[in-house]
Amino acid sequence: MPQWLRRALLALIVLLIAMQFIRPARTNPPIIPGQEITANLSVPPAVESIFERSCNDCHSYRTVWPRYSEVAPVSWLVAFDVSRGRKDLNLSAWAAYSSTKQADLLKKMCEEVTEGEMPGTAYELMHAGAKLSGGDVKQVCDWIQSAK
Ligand code: HEC
Repeated sequence: MPQWLRRALLALIVLLIAMQFIRPARTNPPIIPGQEITANLSVPPAVESIFERSCNDCHSYRTVWPRYSEVAPVSWLVAFDVSRGRKDLNLSAWAAYSSTKQADLLKKMCEEVTEGEMPGTAYELMHAGAKLSGGDVKQVCDWIQSAK
């Protein structure tokens, strides 16, 4: 092995180790039961199970942090996704939104799942069963239609 390559590999290993010291917070703030979407709207069990299976990890304080999210740089990507996800739509802080905002978010939820944008390809690859079927999409949109 040429010496430059050996040096480059060594530098890479040192870098990978150093990266592990930058640990993003992987927190789940406490759940306030009255704030959750399920406490404020009547969510049918089928839709609730879709939330649990495919949305809560990024859009609630009920995140199940996967083992692979402990290793940098994956840890950074996962933490970034969760913080952006919670910022845009937090099913655990539903009561904090105005009614206009709630109506807007419900409309967007149906749009995102209809377009197949959520839960996202990377998430679907890592979580068997997370990808929504046509039937799941219909459950979500029918419920949103009736919740209005
Ligand atoms: C892997 C993390 C992840 C999962 C799982 C996930 N989302 Fe998202 N979601 C995001 C991120 C990040 C954003 C913000 C950036 C963007 O739009 O891509 C977002 C944005 C959204 C928005 C847009 C909110 C706005 O104000 O525009 C909606 C609605 C949404 N997601 C619904 C869902 C639904 C419904 C599910 C479950 C079927 C889901 N998401 C699953 C990460 C996720």
